[in-house]
Amino acid sequence: MQTQSLTIRRPDDWHLHLRDGAMLEAVAPYSARQFARAIIMPNLVPPVTTVDAACAYRDRIRRAAGPGFEPLMTCYLTDSIDPDELERGHREGAWVAAKLYPAGATTNSHSGVTDVRHIYPALERMEKIGMVLCVHGEVTDPAIDIFDREAVFLERVLTPVLRDFPGLRIVLEHITTADSADFVRDAEPNLAATITPQHLHLNRNALFDGGLRPHAYCLPVVKRERHRLAVRAAAVSGSPKFFLGTDSAPHLKEAKESDCGCAGIWNAPHALESYATVFDEEGALDRFEGFASEHGPRFYGLPLNEGTVTLERADVAVPERIAAAGSSLVPFHAGQTLGWKLAAA
Ligand code: DOR
Ligand code: ZN
Repeated sequence: MQTQSLTIRRPDDWHLHLRDGAMLEAVAPYSARQFARAIIMPNLVPPVTTVDAACAYRDRIRRAAGPGFEPLMTCYLTDSIDPDELERGHREGAWVAAKLYPAGATTNSHSGVTDVRHIYPALERMEKIGMVLCVHGEVTDPAIDIFDREAVFLERVLTPVLRDFPGLRIVLEHITTADSADFVRDAEPNLAATITPQHLHLNRNALFDGGLRPHAYCLPVVKRERHRLAVRAAAVSGSPKFFLGTDSAPHLKEAKESDCGCAGIWNAPHALESYATVFDEEGALDRFEGFASEHGPRFYGLPLNEGTVTLERADVAVPERIAAAGSSLVPFHAGQTLGWKLAAA
């Protein structure tokens, strides 16, 4: 008989963009409904590079999300980041990780790192104090085809960093390729990866399905079908190296549907249901709890959540758009029906 209902330990989102101001107010409750904690991305304008900025942002998130949701803050690494500020923020509990954006790789990454060697003093300190490094794993070299930038990053940046900092815990965020899935699987236990719903559901045909599809555009860009299948296999493998990170990244409808549309898919409203659909299709519902609720906290060295959430086999219709910040957002799976529904708490 088919499983009709699935109760798992309350999950976390290990990669989330909440923005600020009216957008934060609009989107935060969707994540809080599903997740107990989330790793909050620091790519605001200006980026979150100081302990004071992180604490003030955390307060704003707590207010917007309501009780029962804990934002786990990250520091945005720049070429000139001060290792002492990193250590102070980590010691005071202001942030649990730091984020490496190669400069120019994605949304609001222009203050990011121009050469990983510039942050070697920071990485050395993070290795010493046990602070996690989150990585946007794409090179920015314009000579490299955009579909190859993740694979080239493994060789040019990640391999030397792993060699030079063997004790540093690293999360390769939002993996999109068979290359990354294999690389992470075969690496030492200090390397793990997050996986988004969109990279489990979409291949690159989705970008051109009957016309140009801005709502399927995110970075790293979705890849060939063989890569999607490899990422799915990694997600459902049961390996503790792979865990849930939505990379939910809201941009207003008009900013997506533009002659230079923003990268990012807003998947927060139905994230857990979207992942559950994939695990069901793969016959791996028994591994969903590990992926959603256990592997992440164990890698970060944080306690597992108390409490549970329940998903039921029932249709859930995803709206075409949702009002937000004086305009609207188009959610991932807009207009589709998903077969798993999060039961009311
Ligand atoms: O698609 C993306 N959107 N990828 C990123 O890395 C950043 C994110 C955003 O902030 O919009
Ligand atoms: Zn992201």
